[in-house]
Amino acid sequence: MNISELNAIAKAMVAKGKGLIAMDESSPTIAKRFKQYGIDNSEENRRAYRELILATPDLNKYISGAILYDETIRQKTKDGVLFAQYMQKLGIIPGIKVDAGAKDHAGFPNEKVTEGLDGLRERLKEYYGMGARFAKWRAVITIGPGTPSTGNIEANAHALARYSALCQEAGIVPIVEPEVLIDGAHTLEQCYDATVTTLRAVFRQLAEQRVAYEGTILKASMVISGLEAKPRAGVNEVADATVRCLLNTVPAALPGVVFLSGGQGNEEATAHLNAMNARHPKLPWPLSFSYSRALQQPVMDTWRGSPAKAAEAQKQLQRRARFNALAATGTYQPQMEREAA
Ligand code: 13P
Repeated sequence: MNISELNAIAKAMVAKGKGLIAMDESSPTIAKRFKQYGIDNSEENRRAYRELILATPDLNKYISGAILYDETIRQKTKDGVLFAQYMQKLGIIPGIKVDAGAKDHAGFPNEKVTEGLDGLRERLKEYYGMGARFAKWRAVITIGPGTPSTGNIEANAHALARYSALCQEAGIVPIVEPEVLIDGAHTLEQCYDATVTTLRAVFRQLAEQRVAYEGTILKASMVISGLEAKPRAGVNEVADATVRCLLNTVPAALPGVVFLSGGQGNEEATAHLNAMNARHPKLPWPLSFSYSRALQQPVMDTWRGSPAKAAEAQKQLQRRARFNALAATGTYQPQMEREAA
């Protein structure tokens, strides 16, 4: 492991005013998303859609890196260039999702544990050879009656730490993603407690597994009311609670924190990130985005599998990427949504 190389990659991932796009939907997830918009889930449509994203004009002004899925990193543009190479030319760092999904945790009803450690050393070596310089592993933590449990948090944190150590050994920056799910009617305070407990466990396990914080990026969920909560906390409350949670748990040595959108609306996810940066301009780490749905929803909705709509869909992506890049420096304004429409 070369910590200064990992640190340089991690810093580039969270360069000022830039964020990541998660386009690493697994086969079952992309099938679900395509179905929502009536898009035929053929291999060619998956390829064409990912090319549409990467070929969006000016994407590299706002996006530092993109997280790919195993199928995608093996695919090529219509001109025959591997996506990872195409991205390198644009200065967009290729990343790769390496977990094998969240599965039912035996003995822990209603909780999930993420699998995928078997054979990971070999897979990381192959992905490095293909150009990947960072990876992602997502754990899910569920708020409900009696959950999250200590046993579930520890199992997920341990797996995240084992994965991170293997990534760093391979010269790949691990994105550590413990997602506290937004599903449910829980309050902001319940989400705060679950997130603090989870992040404490994650950073303790990372330290025990000898993972270098300087070569690690946290992908966090925001501290937010559950989707069914009434009332739901406002933008400033979410921003302040999330920042307070991070200050109490995340080591200052970490190069950066990015957020997932996790089922928030597109504009909501942008407004929350912006409020954090506008209200808390002096934090130990840059706060940026690594959204999938909050960047891609309008793109899929416009494209719907039609080549004639590709340029218009790319405009949608450019717009959301630009707004989120502004939010990463606290300079986004909600009225921009109307001006640019
Ligand atoms: P969402 O932004 O849609 O939550 O996806 C981010 C992600 O990569 C989840 O692992």
